[in-house]
Amino acid sequence: MDSPRLTPAPPPRCPRIIVLGNEKGGTGKSTTAAHLIVALLKRGFSVGSIDLDARQGTLSRLMENRADYAKRKGLDLELPEHRRLYRSESSARGAAEWEEKRGFERAVADLADRDYIVMDTPGNDSFLSRAGHACAEVLITPLNDSFLDLDLLARIDPQGRQILGPSLYSQMVWEQRQQRAVMGLAPMDWIVMRNRLSHIDARNKREIGRLLELLSQRIGFRLAPGFGERVIFRELFLKGLTLLDLRDDDPEFQLSMSHVAARQEVRALLRAIGLPEAPPPTKAPPPPKAMVTGTGARGTLS
Ligand SMILES: Nc1ncnc2c1ncn2[C@@H]1O[C@H](COP(=O)(O)OP(=O)(O)OP(=O)(O)O)[C@@H](O)[C@H]1O
Ligand SMILES: [Mg+2]
Repeated sequence: MDSPRLTPAPPPRCPRIIVLGNEKGGTGKSTTAAHLIVALLKRGFSVGSIDLDARQGTLSRLMENRADYAKRKGLDLELPEHRRLYRSESSARGAAEWEEKRGFERAVADLADRDYIVMDTPGNDSFLSRAGHACAEVLITPLNDSFLDLDLLARIDPQGRQILGPSLYSQMVWEQRQQRAVMGLAPMDWIVMRNRLSHIDARNKREIGRLLELLSQRIGFRLAPGFGERVIFRELFLKGLTLLDLRDDDPEFQLSMSHVAARQEVRALLRAIGLPEAPPPTKAPPPPKAMVTGTGARGTLS
């Protein structure tokens, strides 16, 4: 019998995984996730998104709002292929984690043909959140610009001048990084971005900036420019829109100087992350726009 011909197989598609994470609530993870997803879609990439915030499901709601708004207004808004994961209802911890693990792996496998998978995680420690962090090639941690929020990354002395040691969250990220190294995976690129920067309190802002610079060397993350405190983010949420969707001639949102500045901030973040402007030219065009679906690990093990 003839030997099989050795033809080089095309490499399997392997999405880049970007995870939004920290263990503090309300710092801008879901907002930033939505902006990244829309930015990538607008650049022509195919994108899958996974909502690991089983309790709140903010990103899922945002995508539902987006699909509704597009339908109502007859707009051609880009949508990712979306998966929402739910917490297992099993009371036995081991069984619950196995079930959530299966749901997570199924969602990732479903989206394996995408260029990117963007995962949003809850503002607390959970099994699903750790599963997301474990496969993050890029981890983006939005941080509210206050001393209170700095202790997400490290313990700071009460005067706010010295770093006493890493936080539980930083240790968890460190463990995930070790795990990646053991498995021979590419190192995780951890990016911290300051969110809701206020225009006042310049002294505090400088001091937080100084501590973050120190921390970035100690804990091993990059600092990226974040977003200012702007009401528009809350207004857009209800429609599932992002700053990147606003047109100059939009009748509903009169584009102000503040909106233009906010859009520049989003673009600066995208540059800092290092996202390509477009897919490679040889790549096939992205599949047609997908509808938002809500599947996941709901149900219990029998
Ligand atoms: N730069 C900003 N300026 C003003 N409001 C903002 C900004 N970023 C986020 N917000 C608002 O803050 C609230 C919390 O944001 P978001 O839901 O993105 O945070 P989160 O980290 O995902 O929260 P959680 O941990 O609860 O999931 C939302 O109402 C959002 O619109
Ligand atoms: Mg959220």
